[in-house]
Amino acid sequence: MDRPLMIFSGQSNVPLAQEIADNLGVPLGKSSTERFANDCLFVRYEQSLREGDVFIIQSLTPPVQDHLVELLMMIDAAKSSSAARVTAVIPYYAYARSDKKDAPRISITARLVADLIQTAGADRVLTMTLHSAQVHGFFKIPVDHLSAELVIANYFATRVDQLENAVIVAPDAGDLKRASALARRLALPLAFIDKQRLSDTEVTSRGLVGNVKGKTALIIDDEVSTAGTLVQAVDVLKQNGAEAVYAAFTHGVYVGPAIERIEKSPILEVAATNTCLYKGQPSPKLQTLSVGPLFAEAIWRTHRGESVSSLFT
Ligand code: R5P
Repeated sequence: MDRPLMIFSGQSNVPLAQEIADNLGVPLGKSSTERFANDCLFVRYEQSLREGDVFIIQSLTPPVQDHLVELLMMIDAAKSSSAARVTAVIPYYAYARSDKKDAPRISITARLVADLIQTAGADRVLTMTLHSAQVHGFFKIPVDHLSAELVIANYFATRVDQLENAVIVAPDAGDLKRASALARRLALPLAFIDKQRLSDTEVTSRGLVGNVKGKTALIIDDEVSTAGTLVQAVDVLKQNGAEAVYAAFTHGVYVGPAIERIEKSPILEVAATNTCLYKGQPSPKLQTLSVGPLFAEAIWRTHRGESVSSLFT
């Protein structure tokens, strides 16, 4: 695009936005967000956006409502400041689990969030590892949906001794497709756990399909939130004879009891990409994988009107 490339950040993950801007070799744009005494937010760009190709980076991490409203305000303000094109870059898309009407009288909130982003004026969306692929289809504007599969595959390949004795594990049925793709990429067998969710924070298992005895189990999931799914999966794998367990996630949301659960679990290491900014205590079990260069490359190709499909896998 024959327009200046401009990168701005909401407040949710400024280090990732800075990393992306550094990789692109452009300064992070100047904007400010204030909170009034009545709790309303106030967003303002501190530079001209006129005819710019504007990318606004905002992960919808907790406090989710604040970060969502800030993103909507930044899109709206960019459009009314005469930006030529506005792309919402949403490394972590919250509410993605509310993607279907699986109970009476509920909201399909993932679609509602898509509606809000489009109504605010976004021309495009760039995101990563949506909980389910159908969320992509809730948008009528173009969506580029990146995957962290390669980053995670590299992590396992370099971190795990004797990779040939490993098995990829999907901790629930929803992750089977993702786990199967990774297993094929690393030429490893696949196992999966039949998970049943009891509440927002508690899960139970109804069994394991596949052989993990004497093997290093490598769990892959889209996100770790309270770590209920993770620690339950580790218990099942250990009970079935797994020697060692590692896990890797695209989104390390780490809320509530997550860190305490991980610390107490026999899992050796938990890795997540930096789509979500970790603000807790450092833990020797936690690893962070960078997706800044991947987002930077996708933004650069979008700006130049080049294909980004080769970055999808
Ligand atoms: C659920 O289907 C997802 O793939 C994750 O397994 C889930 O979001 C993890 O949540 P938690 O860490 O709270 O168990």
